[in-house]
Amino acid sequence: MALPRTLSVIGAGQMGIGIALVASLRAKIPVILYDRDPSQISKGLGFMDKLLAKDVSKGKISEDDAKAARARIVSISSTSSSSSSDELNWARELAERGTDMVVEAASERLSIKEGIFRALAESLSKDAVLASNTSSISITKLAGAAVDGLGPGVSRASAEGKSCAGRVVGVHFFNPVPVMKLCEVIPGLQTSEATLERAKAFAVACGKEVTTSKDVPGFVSNALLMPFINEAIMCLESRTATRDDIDKTLRLGMGHPMGPLQLADFIGLDTCLAIQETLYEGTHDSKYRPSILLGRMVDAGWLGKKSGKGFYDY
Ligand code: CAA
Repeated sequence: MALPRTLSVIGAGQMGIGIALVASLRAKIPVILYDRDPSQISKGLGFMDKLLAKDVSKGKISEDDAKAARARIVSISSTSSSSSSDELNWARELAERGTDMVVEAASERLSIKEGIFRALAESLSKDAVLASNTSSISITKLAGAAVDGLGPGVSRASAEGKSCAGRVVGVHFFNPVPVMKLCEVIPGLQTSEATLERAKAFAVACGKEVTTSKDVPGFVSNALLMPFINEAIMCLESRTATRDDIDKTLRLGMGHPMGPLQLADFIGLDTCLAIQETLYEGTHDSKYRPSILLGRMVDAGWLGKKSGKGFYDY
């Protein structure tokens, strides 16, 4: 199965940087890293340089491998875009630079992702795979936004004929991407078999084992993980046990590398809340209702490791 000749990664946060790194280092694919915010790109690339230097110092990769991986990555931000900073211009720029697969790793918000998929559908070649690293948002819905992106006068039926929605797929990586061995691949209702196979081949080339999940809220991974994290937060809220004892129970009693509260901080409390809201709204099942404490912490701007404060201080 053919790998992408040029991959574009949208969003230079912790997931986007990790995906760009494994695509370049493991799959040896040229990568264009796009983020609207240039400071996010420089921060992310700085972190990537540190990871590569650590791998070299530990003898995991050679210095030449690290240099080649880094050289395969170019970045663009809205300010480096050829003209103004509206969404279509960056998408056209990715197209002009030969992008034949995109992995979107922007914030976990439906309106943001739909805007991105509309712009991609309008600009990219009709052979390009449009993948999302979403943790819980419906791939079928994003594929619908891609069809809408083909502009006025294009009916859903004719857009499907151009296999636009068929090119949308979920590729869900796990944080830290260079360390975690899994990629969950999610076909939407419209995803073609060829797109699914290309997505799986890409994940394998990045060094990942692949599982497949139906397009249900949270997919398999977060339909299991988020109630677990939420239950731990509810234990804290009801003072069943202290923060440290909740985490210690799972670490020492069950062999988890991190306790659920530490893991929630690591994922980001805003991301956990967004996923839990998607699960709750998508199922109307009370078992997915986000805890009040989680919402309050996000209101306070305590987002976990990335903001310096969550259940722990950093
Ligand atoms: N990026 C890249 N590499 C990282 C990293 C990061 N953010 N953090 C740690 N690492 C690397 C370290 O560099 C180190 O690499 P080497 O073996 O080459 O030295 C390795 O991971 C181990 O790190 P440490 O020794 O510093 O610390 P540790 O042994 O405590 O491991 C951990 C850290 C890998 C994060 C481990 O605690 C762990 O596996 N935690 C659970 C993570 C997890 O469950 N992730 C999934 C979250 S859910 C998700 O991502 C999807 C979603 O939809 C929400």
